Amino acid sequence: MNFKKIILITGGAGFIGSHVVRLFVNQYPDYRIINLDALTYAGNLENLKDVDRAPNYHFVKGDIRDAEMLDQLFQKYHFDGIIHLAAESHVDRSITDPMSFITTNIVGTVNLLNAARKLWQDHFSGKRFYHISTDEVYGSLGSEGFFTETTAYDPRSPYSASKASSDHLVRAYGHTYGLPVVLTNCSNNYGPNQFPEKLIPLAIHNIRNNKSIPVYGEGKNIRDWLYVVDHARAIDLVYHRGRNLATYNIGGHNELRNIDLIHTLCEIMDRKLNRAPGTSAKLITFVKDRLGHDLRYAIDASLIRQELGWKPGLQFKEGLEKTVDWYLNNEEWMTRITSGTYQQYYRQQYEKR
Ligand code: NAD
Ligand code: DAU
Repeated sequence: MNFKKIILITGGAGFIGSHVVRLFVNQYPDYRIINLDALTYAGNLENLKDVDRAPNYHFVKGDIRDAEMLDQLFQKYHFDGIIHLAAESHVDRSITDPMSFITTNIVGTVNLLNAARKLWQDHFSGKRFYHISTDEVYGSLGSEGFFTETTAYDPRSPYSASKASSDHLVRAYGHTYGLPVVLTNCSNNYGPNQFPEKLIPLAIHNIRNNKSIPVYGEGKNIRDWLYVVDHARAIDLVYHRGRNLATYNIGGHNELRNIDLIHTLCEIMDRKLNRAPGTSAKLITFVKDRLGHDLRYAIDASLIRQELGWKPGLQFKEGLEKTVDWYLNNEEWMTRITSGTYQQYYRQQYEKR
């Protein structure tokens, strides 16, 4: 088959990447989608079992830290576009092991930029390098204000510093070499297929198993939550219609203190598990705070709304119900993930808190 475009999606076996792959494979049968993923602890091909036989989808196992492999891959497939999501993504892991964040998030991104430059050789018409980033690069807000696209970078964890660094490098390649880059910085995603090291799936899993729900500090930190499919829709729009060299912030208009989110989740879980009201909330346990814990993130997403007409589709309550249903209906997915090395991670992360 002759494909209209060949697109490389990196990190497509992860949480957000799998939703992006699914959207592109289903929505664009005339695009060939190549999913490149190293299948780290966070990558799981089970996330894509509904699309893995599609004729326009192909999976390649590979590590973006391997520049030679990337050059060969780019020469083989002649990509028209790259949507780059592969990353080490968990703040707590970046605090215990910063180096893998430097090598994957920074060096890996530069390897991809170099491979794209070599392939495209200054012929950029119809080409696109799309870098997926995070609101954490902007640092931490007080009780007022929002992150806009012009907010100065102020990353405060090894994770956010590595993402900030990769953002700068992507923009530098855009300005210096004319590479057709576009970036988005998104707030906290939630939804199906998220690895249970992140707050929402971890809490669902623990409530389900009558284990304590670890809330860092006093639970007053605020995050702006967005349903993952809404993020994937935004990525589709930006890939096709975003301006070259532009940055768009993406957020849920949905700020919540962690403790309030957890209480809402406990209420939903009590109902779904036929437990007496208040049962799950008894599992809430305040534990030692995350080092350098950012207080508040909140996104001003007016640019992407005005330019591209994007806004979140799902209300948080509805999204959270859907998310809980997915985890309760996919217990095998969770069991497979949480057996083995997850136990070791969990002990290291939470035992001494
Ligand atoms: P994730 O940890 O669930 O998935 C990351 C994927 O990248 C995994 O499949 C993993 O196997 C792969 N990967 C890791 N290192 C690799 C390497 N060296 N080579 C190839 N593949 C590798 O992450 P996520 O939550 O889906 O986040 C995806 C992207 O979106 C990241 O760039 C992250 O910074 C960004 N982001 C995430 C959120 C969020 O709330 N989760 C919000 C904004 C931005
Ligand atoms: O803002 C976007 C970012 O959101 C992404 O770039 C990151 O990849 C993603 O992991 C997420 O980062 P956070 O650190 O905000 O997400 P996490 O789910 O780890 O934590 C959410 C909040 O909950 C945060 O304030 C820390 C707190 N927390 C987290 C865990 C895992 C707890 O209180 N207890 C926990 O056990």
